[in-house]
Amino acid sequence: MPSSDIKILAIESSCDETSAAVAVNGKVLNNIVATQSVHENYGGVVPELASRAHQQNIVPVVDQALKNAAISPEEISAVAFTRGPGLMGALLVGTSFAKGLALALDVPLIEVNHMQAHILAHFIDEPRPEFPFLCLTVSGGHTQIVLVKNFTEMEVVGETQDDAVGEAFDKVAKMMGLGYPGGPQVDRLAREGDSDAFEFPESEMPGLNYSFSGIKTAVLYFLRDRLKENEQFIQENKADIAASVQKTLISMLLQKLRKAARKYKINQVAIAGGVSANSGLRDRLSQMAEEENWQVYIPAFEYCTDNAGMIAMAGHYKYLAQEFVDQGVSALPRMKF
Ligand code: KG4
Ligand code: ZN
Repeated sequence: MPSSDIKILAIESSCDETSAAVAVNGKVLNNIVATQSVHENYGGVVPELASRAHQQNIVPVVDQALKNAAISPEEISAVAFTRGPGLMGALLVGTSFAKGLALALDVPLIEVNHMQAHILAHFIDEPRPEFPFLCLTVSGGHTQIVLVKNFTEMEVVGETQDDAVGEAFDKVAKMMGLGYPGGPQVDRLAREGDSDAFEFPESEMPGLNYSFSGIKTAVLYFLRDRLKENEQFIQENKADIAASVQKTLISMLLQKLRKAARKYKINQVAIAGGVSANSGLRDRLSQMAEEENWQVYIPAFEYCTDNAGMIAMAGHYKYLAQEFVDQGVSALPRMKF
């Protein structure tokens, strides 16, 4: 490969996936992800354990990404890393490793905002959205409607005022005694259930904002009351409960997305983040796209949940813009756009 090629090594460690990827000239060559199964025993991510697992995984994961891409460390143009948002201890592992590596190799260091990277996952494969577009970013920590103006300029036009939608999925799953992470389990069960079996209230928030704490409480009380009458209620109605809750969450998400698309007169609409893997959301979004005449963009499954491929993509565009940070940089758990 000619030496003018831009070769980005990217590192992601914001939550419970340790990941590394290599992108050459904006093409992601690989995406190595070490998932931390240790949290399954606790029904949620335990920050302390996440940091320890990142420490154990980071060297093998980076090593594998480089070997897989057949690139030696000396060939790297820059090191990109997730600075935030995320868990402090988890972020520190990736941040410190990236800083050390960039220093040793004497190459630029690029900070990446994890939420912006979720959006840029849309540029890993074809088809790519055209600017400006709207992106519904839905993960375990965030629920945002973002107006994406270009690769680096993005504006949050609506967001949750309390829980993230992924958190709502996970908490409902926990109440139902399903494993962790709960979102995929609710999704799987919902496919077999009747989404009109039970009704849950949709919270009303002004403008383009969301609230998901109300539905969580509503499900808690609903289950408590029904269990008093029948101890087997959850067991006997698992699929219907999952389908009904999922339908409500999706309806809340898409109503505001439609409102945003009409407000900004944009018909390029994308979804990103872990919850964009949800099959019900994908189906309903495709339907709405027909109704509203939208062009819809949904990333491949492997780029929906946390991965370094998206960090490499964001890193590539920041490299082109020569946006580097110095060695004084530290992790930023509440990093904004
Ligand atoms: O983006 P992500 O991998 O990590 C964060 O940055 O939070 O998102 C994780 C979230 C979890 O809440 C998980 O339950 C949810 O995404 N999730 C799903 C599905 N797959 C992952 N939620 C609903 N349906 C799914 N298929
Ligand atoms: Zn994420």
